[in-house]
Amino acid sequence: ELHGAVTIIVLGASGDLAKKKTFPALFGLFRNGFLPANTRIVGYARTKMDHDQFIERVTHYIKSKGYEGQLEEFKSILSYLSGQYDNDESFINLDQTIRQSEEERKIEVGKRHRVFYMALPPSVFIPVAKGLKKNAYAKEGLNRIVVEKPFGEDSESSARLAKELGACFTEEETFRIDHYLGKEMVKNVMMVRFANIFFSQIWNRSNIDNIQITFKEPFGTEGRGGYFDEFGIIRDVMQNHLLQVLSLIAMERPISTDAEAIRDEKVKVLKCIPPISVNDALLGQYVAANGKPSYLDDETIKNKDSLTPTFAALVLFIQNERWEGVPFILKAGKALNEAKVEVRIQFRNVAGSLYRNAARNELVMRVQPDEAVYIKFNNKQPGLSYQTIQTELDLTYHNRYTDLNIPDAYESLILDVLRNDHSNFVRDDELEAAWKIFTPLLHKIDAHHQDIKLSNYTYGSRGPAELDDFMKKYGYDRSNVNYSWPVQSVA
Ligand code: BG6
Repeated sequence: ELHGAVTIIVLGASGDLAKKKTFPALFGLFRNGFLPANTRIVGYARTKMDHDQFIERVTHYIKSKGYEGQLEEFKSILSYLSGQYDNDESFINLDQTIRQSEEERKIEVGKRHRVFYMALPPSVFIPVAKGLKKNAYAKEGLNRIVVEKPFGEDSESSARLAKELGACFTEEETFRIDHYLGKEMVKNVMMVRFANIFFSQIWNRSNIDNIQITFKEPFGTEGRGGYFDEFGIIRDVMQNHLLQVLSLIAMERPISTDAEAIRDEKVKVLKCIPPISVNDALLGQYVAANGKPSYLDDETIKNKDSLTPTFAALVLFIQNERWEGVPFILKAGKALNEAKVEVRIQFRNVAGSLYRNAARNELVMRVQPDEAVYIKFNNKQPGLSYQTIQTELDLTYHNRYTDLNIPDAYESLILDVLRNDHSNFVRDDELEAAWKIFTPLLHKIDAHHQDIKLSNYTYGSRGPAELDDFMKKYGYDRSNVNYSWPVQSVA
């Protein structure tokens, strides 16, 4: 843990990410007493703003109803400094400002820690890291650097970035955020797998037919097209968020719950996955429907012939004893019919079943909205009938846990940084292994290779029309589509 006094420097403080995620998360931690007593937060960006404008901007998204007093206190630990991202002078000024505050507050030498939070576009990562290392690196305390994706856009660029960043900050000092690792249900995966004997015993190719990890958003790029068009859905959420979930679902049991033990296993399983084949990919882009725009209608997209996928279903195989032959289907799309992120594990048919109509069991972990773990389960139709019906063993969090209060992913992750716990952050070799799986396919997509096909799907639909056939090819049995569960969503 960072004992002593911590200065959190949010670089890119006037940007969207800082405003929407970083500052609200910092307030959440402050309000719950999780920021060390002597914490100061310094916003840093190019924009010239006075103190009030800064406060106004970074508290805009904070929900403070009922916590007005605490918000006032929180404001008193915030300050703003404008500076450039590529000149020494600016970073020297930052250094002096922090030092002055530490001296005024008589912070003990050795305990003057700095956390640099890079809420920055990738184009300035490296100059900023270099500038910080040279001019604003704490010499009387510890340093931490928190970085946000994108971490490159393929194996090569990611390696270059890693090398340059690694020359400034050690791996111990570096925290690569993948905010999916801060989500409650994602943090629950290890517990479900390794603390329940019935799951740990059947978690393999003998019992599992296929696994789906699904990410659906009901809105399009809407204004974020400038960024999105260069990256596409695969780089945006699959190579990082969904692959992280996959590695937790698929990895072997770590020798302990230590960060390095966990990350060792994640890297190991990723290394067993060969690059995704074009034949195992279904790609799509949304088109206008029901008054909703097409992807290409987004004014922030400059290339009006863009072939960037906004939907992808990709099938990965893990070549090891546990998973050989089991398809892991990653599915992600923008502008679909609903908002949902879930892991769906479909088990095999019961062998020699007495009940031929019995549907397959499924274990579903719903990440959002409304966290839940449930099992699709066969039961006798109550009453005189001997019909098997599909029902569910249901752990819906809102029903089961009273006073449920799930912190935002960023809150949980920033707290991990302060506690120096790397478990929920991406290690350098993990990143490398992740890019290897996606890079050949991405290069083909970028080059508009003749094997790449892009299907259209309408805004608000389930995805390209080919999706169901595609899923069937990998064994997913959707025959019980008539099964319905009147889920009461608790908003
Ligand atoms: C971000 C992506 O990393 O994750 C966005 O860049 C996406 O495109 C977002 O919308 C989803 O995060 P969440 O927490 O809303 O599921």
